Amino acid sequence: MAEDLIQDIGILSETETEACETVKVSKDTHTGKSRKLYIESYGCQMNFSDSEIVTSILTQEGFDTTSDFEEADVILLNTCSIRDKAEQTVRNRLNNFNTIKKQNPDVLVGVLGCMAERLKSKLLEEEKIVDLVAGPDAYRDLPNLVKKVDDGDKAVNTFLSREETYADISPVRLNSNGVTAFISIMRGCDNMCSFCVVPFTRGRERSRDPYSIVNEAKDLFNKGYREVTLLGQNVDSYKWSPNEELKGKAQIEKSGEDNVINFAQLLEMVALVHPDLRIRFSTSHPKDITDDVLYTMKKYENICKYIHLPAQSGNSRVLELMNRTYDRDWYMEKVDAIRDILGKECGISSDWIAGFCSETEEEHSDSISLMDYVQYDFSYMFYYSERPGTLAEKKYKDDIPLNIKKRRLQEIIAKQQEISLNRNKLDLNKTHKVLIEGYSKRSNEHLQGRNTANKVVIFPKQDKQIGEYVNVFVKDCSAATLFGEIAD
Ligand code: SAH
Ligand code: SF4
Ligand code: F3S
Repeated sequence: MAEDLIQDIGILSETETEACETVKVSKDTHTGKSRKLYIESYGCQMNFSDSEIVTSILTQEGFDTTSDFEEADVILLNTCSIRDKAEQTVRNRLNNFNTIKKQNPDVLVGVLGCMAERLKSKLLEEEKIVDLVAGPDAYRDLPNLVKKVDDGDKAVNTFLSREETYADISPVRLNSNGVTAFISIMRGCDNMCSFCVVPFTRGRERSRDPYSIVNEAKDLFNKGYREVTLLGQNVDSYKWSPNEELKGKAQIEKSGEDNVINFAQLLEMVALVHPDLRIRFSTSHPKDITDDVLYTMKKYENICKYIHLPAQSGNSRVLELMNRTYDRDWYMEKVDAIRDILGKECGISSDWIAGFCSETEEEHSDSISLMDYVQYDFSYMFYYSERPGTLAEKKYKDDIPLNIKKRRLQEIIAKQQEISLNRNKLDLNKTHKVLIEGYSKRSNEHLQGRNTANKVVIFPKQDKQIGEYVNVFVKDCSAATLFGEIAD
């Protein structure tokens, strides 16, 4: 399948790294500050959200931002380690910056995020041009670290915290369309999926004060935003206790359930900010999503009917090796509960890993048959990439040859394309409420937005504005997009 087609239909292949691995760079601000910061982000939405926190911290410390790295005094790369390819991309990028550093040795080059955390000071030795390394929990220390480099030293902080949530920091929105924004609600991950590097790069799971989350949502609404996505690696295990002393999750569990705010309650609190503020969330872990969450979604029209529920594999033995702590039947029951409570229109998407250690052809075909059962609207699809330090690297052999991994991945991609088209056909000749996010990529005469199930809808603009809700009657579709006309 042609690469541009894969992109066009919204299905991402390994060659493109991942969902979230489009690069995003900082915008331009000109407030007359003395130094310019350029920040480029890779990886998941959490990383993009962190770059907004980093920008907030540094713009308070004498920096303007720039979208042109050639005019920057400080270049920061916020990096991802999820697959080997993600790290390779960053290394190649650092090579590009090498030329700039040669021309202007005073430019500070720093690495943030998951690769910084994984490699720590080794990065300074491996990548000679790097001056600064800061892990995901060390961003408050950035002004000091920059100063250290100014004073002629190299600077490293990869301390992982059990408490840091940056709750009090008001993110500077980068790449914003002014309509949709991300709000981090928790950090870290306490699951130990055997393939995954995240628990090592992001540390222990901790939940952010719900009142700071609600305030951020209110503030965004007042500034004209109409959709927030609540972000965490495993949002359904969100847990927060009002008792300041009880910060760690283990302690919260001991404190009893009465004064604990869980994810369903948090969702409700954010939904109540305003009926015109849409709420989305990501990612849900199949073992943790509760019926309470599903009923809360049903109760509020402004909570979008869309769940990203990564399966990873459709085979119970492989799921056990992956340490996902659910099996095929459990997963199917969750999907049945979603369909029972929220109806068959509720959007469901997944992540898949093709060719995990020892996966047989038959086990791979279980992934394909699970796709048929669930009828996913969308998937992010990858082949397995062994990561140093993970349980899988220690316990299992990465024994599926690359050509087989790639072939299995292509089969998963082809199946998803078929299902996406079928799912979109079910939306034809119906009216969808769409939040307008911007102009269509291909025409200034067309606007685009998404319906509740997260599907992109394109329609002639007439007199409608970005940020408005509009009813669109859908007349045509591709596997990635719905096309229609304004109905009211
Ligand atoms: N917390 C989320 C996933 C975060 S990582 C969850 O549990 O679903 C995003 C996706 O990257 C994962 O869902 C998985 O499909 C993929 N991934 C993670 N580690 C990988 C690896 N070693 N090789 C290939 N894909 C991987
Ligand atoms: Fe990784 Fe699993 Fe945590 Fe997701 S839930 S971040 S896949 S360890
Ligand atoms: Fe990558 Fe780290 Fe996110 S490894 S996917 S940037 S949590």
